[in-house]
Amino acid sequence: MVFKLSVALVALAAVASAANYKRVACPDGKNTATHDACCVFFALRDDLQENLFDNTCGEDAVHEVLRLTFHDAIGFSESGVLQGTGADGSMIIFDDIETAFAANNGIDDSVDALSPFLSTHNVTAGDLIQFAGAVGITNCPGAPRLQFLAGRPNATIPASDGTVPEPQNSVDMILARMADAGFSPDELIHLLVSHTIARADHVDPTIQAVPFDTTPFTFDTQIFLEVLLAGTGFPGTAGNVGEVESPLGAQGEMRLQSDFALARDNRTACTWQSMVDNQQLMMHNFFTAMKKMAVIGHNPRDLIDCSEVIPQPVAPLGKPATFPAGTGPQDLQQACPSPFPTLSTDPGPATQIPACPDGSLNIADCPS
Ligand code: HEM
Repeated sequence: MVFKLSVALVALAAVASAANYKRVACPDGKNTATHDACCVFFALRDDLQENLFDNTCGEDAVHEVLRLTFHDAIGFSESGVLQGTGADGSMIIFDDIETAFAANNGIDDSVDALSPFLSTHNVTAGDLIQFAGAVGITNCPGAPRLQFLAGRPNATIPASDGTVPEPQNSVDMILARMADAGFSPDELIHLLVSHTIARADHVDPTIQAVPFDTTPFTFDTQIFLEVLLAGTGFPGTAGNVGEVESPLGAQGEMRLQSDFALARDNRTACTWQSMVDNQQLMMHNFFTAMKKMAVIGHNPRDLIDCSEVIPQPVAPLGKPATFPAGTGPQDLQQACPSPFPTLSTDPGPATQIPACPDGSLNIADCPS
């Protein structure tokens, strides 16, 4: 009797679990999904990868789109001092208004790149931005596979000016702005992992595509090490707002004043330092912080988990963090009392910073 009952229970559990995992066939005849709302994202993913990202970790457009995920989502204010409804696509829907804000200088490139996909794929602007960011970074070795929830309604109001922090803002100002959007100092540093694949076009108007670390096409921890090194010069002109000297100005590396200050402030220095040469921690931190940022202004329970559509990212290169040639532990401006990892130094005379995702050193050699 007991045996029969347990057999029946096992059979029931199997039926229930099969029902939970029942997949829907998508209208494209190719894919199946956990929810029919996810079907539209398969074709969008393939279109973005082939026609926008070229399956590479390029500035134009993976880096720019990742920046856009932040600038769109942070348009939110718990206190109501500023206006905005978070990750809502307002940057695209109200582009005439929001791209004109000083903090959004250059964001129109990614808005212009993504907008055409709205007419060929039936998704909202807020979903498009967060989805494109999650798909794009999978081309960068070492990026985590982000969560993607679908179903953000389209924005009905623009965000107000002042929601996006600027590199010349004080740490107090930046932390206050992030707190008003619901983010702790630790979470801000976790989001700043993004600067591992970043280059500036607008901080120094005399030079473009200026990297923040020596590996701008790799999702590695170099940024956390290099921002802690003493600055010695500028890659272009001096005196630009929001820029401070970098340790490799001669090699063309730029440093934002905000990254410099956050790496040395006692509220954030240990979180910053903790990611030096800790790829797994960095990936985990970025995954968790982006999961929260991508749904600012929404109740995640109202959204549908379509993470299965995000491709598997390119694996980390497995190279430990290294001091760039000509620098070493003597150049560290360590602001956290925890022990610093022991790292080797790149062979000299200078660490070359790639200009293209394929490692080419000259921008003219980048595949178009
Ligand atoms: C304190 C907060 C932040 C400040 C002050 C800041 C500032 C900046 C500035 C000034 C640039 C250079 C833009 C240009 O001249 O082209 C930049 C680039 C970038 N930022 Fe941030 N940022 C912050 C946080 C974030 C966050 C949270 C993300 C993403 C989650 C992000 C992603 C990026 C990316 C990917 C780029 C490179 C864009 C490209 O290469 O075209 N940033 N950021």
